[in-house]
Amino acid sequence: MAVTAEAARLKSSGVDILSFGAGEPDFPTPQNIKQAAIRALDENFTKYTAAGGTPELRKAICEWHRKQLGTSYEPAECIACVGGKHVIFNVMAALIDQGDEVILPIPYWVTFYDVVNYHGGKCVMVETSESEGFRLSAADIERALTPRTKIVVVNSPNNPSGAVVSREEFEKIYQLTSSRGVTLLSDECYSHFVYDGAPFSVGSLAGSKPNVVVVGSLSKTFAMTGWRLGYALAPKELISAINKLQSHSTSNPTSIVQKAGVEALTGPQDSVPQMLAEYRRRRDYVVPALNGIPGIRCATPGGAFYAYPNISSFFGRNGIHSAMDFSSALLREAHVAVVPGEAFGTQEHIRISYAASMDELERGVERIRKFAESKS
Ligand SMILES: Cc1ncc(COP(=O)(O)O)c(C=O)c1O
Repeated sequence: MAVTAEAARLKSSGVDILSFGAGEPDFPTPQNIKQAAIRALDENFTKYTAAGGTPELRKAICEWHRKQLGTSYEPAECIACVGGKHVIFNVMAALIDQGDEVILPIPYWVTFYDVVNYHGGKCVMVETSESEGFRLSAADIERALTPRTKIVVVNSPNNPSGAVVSREEFEKIYQLTSSRGVTLLSDECYSHFVYDGAPFSVGSLAGSKPNVVVVGSLSKTFAMTGWRLGYALAPKELISAINKLQSHSTSNPTSIVQKAGVEALTGPQDSVPQMLAEYRRRRDYVVPALNGIPGIRCATPGGAFYAYPNISSFFGRNGIHSAMDFSSALLREAHVAVVPGEAFGTQEHIRISYAASMDELERGVERIRKFAESKS
């Protein structure tokens, strides 16, 4: 967000910036979803609702999950919050006691680290290997488990690497965490943006419900980032604790957004595969194009809409000693905004969001190529 803000500042002063910083779809929210919100306004659906979301919305979430991902949650095992970020904040608040350890695979989405620390937990980082496409394994997690481990975070498809944990590996991770009585927090916000195979939820594994918290969001799946609607699927007791917390903080997600959410989940679903097809087209252009630039190496992401190239071959040249230096120089000199890997716990990468038009991507790659050549 800081990169996007700086890019916006430069843009407003007349600089032609190409921005690949923001982690949000470039598509508009589908029309049927917008209409549902307008209808809700017209019908004066503008009062408080139940703090954890209307029964109608929670039922729609559980049903959609059942149909799309093969889970079997009931409304009492579901809470709607003000975006996936809010869900994660609430789950961590409800579960973490001072000094509890939370296993966080690297690279990680930046919010996890800060939220765990904020709630008095301790992040225990687990490295993944770039040569393996940053795919997490159960063995990686096993090495980091201690008697103090409370939660293991898995985010697949991953922000920022786009890595996807296979179903088989997920099963192993689940077996491992449940056998140690550790909660597996599965952030599935990008579940529907996978390029090989079908969307997967760890909550669909037989018997997994007691040890799993599924975090979901309508932000990416339905291009609704600004609306702020996310949800948790978890054991009743945890949902009830989060509900209590939420009733004294934000209370319900915005009433009309909840109606829009019901439409998103129960209405036509065609916009989702359409967006996925477009992301695939862009990925299939961007990743080989980046790999064609001398000095840049990029693993092929299996999901989400991010490329995470390694730019460490530029270190030690022209005053560039870190991904942060690289990103700053790229913004200053080539007017391309990306996010430095330091934000995600790695030192040698930049994140490029390809949720941008093909034209912007082509121009962006060209600018990166020229920038890279100027540093060789
Ligand atoms: C991995 C991951 N989880 C959760 C979120 C939360 O999204 P939101 O709060 O918009 O639902 C994001 C947003 O970028 C994300 O990348």
